[in-house]
Amino acid sequence: MTNKIKKIAVFTSGGDSPGMNAAIRSVVRTCAFLKLECVAIYRGYQGMIDGDFKNMDARSVNNIINKGGTVLKSARCEDFRTKEGRQKAYDQLRANNIDAFVVIGGNGSFAGAQLFNEEFDFPVMGIPGTIDNDIIGTSFTIGFDTAINTVVEAIDKIRDTASSHNRLFFVEVMGRDVGHIALNAGVGAGAEEILIPEQNLGLERLLDSLKRSKKSGKSSSIVIVAEGDKIGKNVFQLKEYVEEHLPIYDVRVSVLGHMQRGGNPTCFDRVLASRMGVRAVEALIEGKTNYMVGVRDTKLVLVPISEAIKEHTKINTELIKVSDIMTT
Ligand code: F6P
Repeated sequence: MTNKIKKIAVFTSGGDSPGMNAAIRSVVRTCAFLKLECVAIYRGYQGMIDGDFKNMDARSVNNIINKGGTVLKSARCEDFRTKEGRQKAYDQLRANNIDAFVVIGGNGSFAGAQLFNEEFDFPVMGIPGTIDNDIIGTSFTIGFDTAINTVVEAIDKIRDTASSHNRLFFVEVMGRDVGHIALNAGVGAGAEEILIPEQNLGLERLLDSLKRSKKSGKSSSIVIVAEGDKIGKNVFQLKEYVEEHLPIYDVRVSVLGHMQRGGNPTCFDRVLASRMGVRAVEALIEGKTNYMVGVRDTKLVLVPISEAIKEHTKINTELIKVSDIMTT
């Protein structure tokens, strides 16, 4: 079958994540290797509507594999939510003879790509790029490994001062509605308690755990709190609550925020992104569309986008068991 795909666009969409640049580099270099033309779209779907395009060759992506963020910028785009906006985007792609696109982003970006394909029969392929690791169908999203390492390093630093002053710290981490960052970084950093939205243990359990920590001779504690946690109090309110009910504790708060989105990607994320970029281009020239490239048991898989956007990944209950044992 002759391959109809001669020119592929690549762009990043939604919240950025470390490793996105490695994925961009891989798509561009795979196109060059396969003698396909490649176009970068800046600023996500908004740039597609605006025609913010740049022709790319293998050299265009020099020295970016090690950089966090996305050189193609990212944006959330209200216009793309309208048929008129999507029509403008389609017209721009056609005017530039672009035959398909690779979107690097999260499930919101994939949902937009799927709708675009349905409306214009335009081939699309997704690469999962988000620190949340919340996309079903893949064991890892690009940026997750870097983010949990960033959080572990931050908590190690916080633990230095917590132990110097015999303090309890509430550390809030990202993850939107899921607790994967909190759980993995919490186990990795030896947090005394980990509060995640998937497990609402309640305030009493938290107080009991903190009392036990004190009794067991722990002079300082770290409680990592996922931003989507459902205990009903934010980290500042948790500080007040513990100070009121357990005055033995001297409590402080640290909200890690957007630093979790930055930093040089780990080797794991760079390799994952490089592998996924190759597979995304290959899948398009095989005539496939509406898939996300995922990884399961170290093997790359193609996941229908309709599946990938259906729900969030479930929390790792075996890791919760490990966490419970480690905090005895
Ligand atoms: O989805 C990635 C993420 O970093 C979430 O963990 C976080 O809740 C959200 O993006 C923050 O969004 P924004 O960058 O728009 O503040």
